[in-house]
Amino acid sequence: MSGKVTVSLIKADVGSYPGHARCHPDLLEIAEKELKSYRERGVIRDFRVFNAGDDLELILTHDKGVDSQEIHGVAWEVFEKATERAKELKLYGAGQDLLSDAFSGNVRGMGPGVAEMEFTERGAEPLIAFMMDKTEPGAFNLPIFRMFADPFNTAGLIIDPSLHPGFVFEVWDILEDRRVFMKAPEEMYDLLALIGAKSRFVIKRVFPKEGGKLPADEPVAVVSTEKLYQIAGEYVGKDDPVALVRAQSGLPAVGEVLEPFAFPHLVSGWMRGSHNGPIMPVSLKHSQCTRFDGPPRVIALGFQIADGTLVGPLDLFDDPAFDSARQKAQEIAEYMRRHGPFEPHRLPMEDMEYTTLPGVMEKLEERFERI
Ligand code: F6R
Ligand code: MG
Ligand code: MG
Repeated sequence: MSGKVTVSLIKADVGSYPGHARCHPDLLEIAEKELKSYRERGVIRDFRVFNAGDDLELILTHDKGVDSQEIHGVAWEVFEKATERAKELKLYGAGQDLLSDAFSGNVRGMGPGVAEMEFTERGAEPLIAFMMDKTEPGAFNLPIFRMFADPFNTAGLIIDPSLHPGFVFEVWDILEDRRVFMKAPEEMYDLLALIGAKSRFVIKRVFPKEGGKLPADEPVAVVSTEKLYQIAGEYVGKDDPVALVRAQSGLPAVGEVLEPFAFPHLVSGWMRGSHNGPIMPVSLKHSQCTRFDGPPRVIALGFQIADGTLVGPLDLFDDPAFDSARQKAQEIAEYMRRHGPFEPHRLPMEDMEYTTLPGVMEKLEERFERI
């Protein structure tokens, strides 16, 4: 295979055990078996199957570009087959993220989350897949910003002449369904003004600048931005976002891509999708949400792409170098938990709109007196 490759990371929670803790091994096995047959038939070039907490994660490589009906159809079928087994096992939330009974050509807006990008494969192409559980897409704003725009994180922005010009950020306003492209470092303060409001403005993609080493129209990072509650019209769980980030040779080095996760920043999600808490970087074997259905977790799997095939993964957070981030995350988790139902542990009212608060307000409406 020469030229362009498409990497699609597509995920859904189609059932877990116990409760929302972890994806069942049978579902991973079913996905593995199904995708193997698609690979044999040449529909996809390669694949890997993982779980991030209760989410079933499919990484597919192919030559069909982003938003391919065929590729999304493959993922949908895998999720449907896994759902059948989840129902037999009476797993929790069996089929929960398949919001429609029939596939309509694209999984976007139907429940699953998608991060995919098509790009020209370089001589050596390192790629890192990030998968979060129990949080929302805006949880990637801080780390993606740091990787591509913060010189205190990414030494290459200062040291490597090919990174020096900076990057272009595609930011989505997920409430108004619109987007804006912003340049860093030139527009860094405006960019931060938006993406600091992480429940509304989310980084969707990052592009190199014109005239650099890499084509300016091919993304170097992409984040899933589906908002389940907007799709479903009612709360059906957090979005549990995923992201793909390319690295090295004119891009942040692998270590610069991982460095933001040495700080377990606060994200929203956790118990009942309604609490702020730290995001804890963990290895695959620790990808299961326990304490208070959390704390929110992120895994990072590293690959080299070779002619569209996946070499790897390396389980990048399976490393004592991240022990102190995990320790810090636990201290923060403990500190936040002590607030119980009080903000800022519990999310602010605007973000509780899709849960019980409107109901409580309605019930008390008549009893409120003017003061
Ligand atoms: C958070 C999450 C869980 C559930 C919680 C209650 O994203 O999935 O914390 O919200 O376990 O689940 P139900 O309402 O299904 O009993
Ligand atoms: Mg679940
Ligand atoms: Mg999940």
